Amino acid sequence: MRKKYVIANWKMNPIGSREAGDLFRKIKSKVQKFRNVKIIICPPAIYLKQLSSSYSGNKIFFGAQNSFWEDKGSFTGEISPLQIKDLNVDFVILGHSERRENGETDEIVNKKIKKALGAGLNVILCVGEKERDDDGSHLHFIENQIRACLSGVSKNNTSKLILAYEPIWAIGKSSEFSMKPSALHQTKLFILKILKDVLGADGMKIPVIYGGSSEPTNSGELIEEGEVDGLLVGHESLVPSDFIEIIKIVNSAK
Ligand code: PGA
Repeated sequence: MRKKYVIANWKMNPIGSREAGDLFRKIKSKVQKFRNVKIIICPPAIYLKQLSSSYSGNKIFFGAQNSFWEDKGSFTGEISPLQIKDLNVDFVILGHSERRENGETDEIVNKKIKKALGAGLNVILCVGEKERDDDGSHLHFIENQIRACLSGVSKNNTSKLILAYEPIWAIGKSSEFSMKPSALHQTKLFILKILKDVLGADGMKIPVIYGGSSEPTNSGELIEEGEVDGLLVGHESLVPSDFIEIIKIVNSAK
């Protein structure tokens, strides 16, 4: 059975390295037994070294929440993908809607993806529409995002990509406002079609995961009926008991 992903996006939380350490300790002590999931924790970059060097297991991986489109140089405040890789961190989230909201365009995301892949990182590419309508224009929006973000990305890199579909209207709410599994399933099939078109047959092997108000109450149906390859979890990844419950549900999903 192909492993599913549960990815924690801590965003700009928590405040303080002690809290970050506590949160991570609570998670790591409970997850070793879940054999069908791959767990990736994406804390603020400032905690990556502390957390990754405190962990010697093989169950949890680490990711950054962003990286820059150049390897090094005069770019005040930016973080190079090579610097991330140097911390033994293997993943980076790129194109998250909260960054796009602050001006990150598909072209910028595209440049970042190429540099991150070049540095040997695995990329979790986020796409998703602001709103849905009956005439399906959100599908064009998603398609354009995927095509623009992956433009010029080599087919050899498909094994280093994860596509996180995160409809913006479903992010940061509660499970009742999350996406319905049947709509998710349709969107996932649509995304796979685009990935195949852009990257060839291997594009269909890219894990397509979902993010947007995944909670213990809806994670099972999102995975089983939505038939996605995992979840990108925001606010619930800051609540260890709920996050562990989500991992448990994904682990036992058929
Ligand atoms: P949420 O966030 O789970 O709080 O909706 C998901 C995300 O923004 O990645």
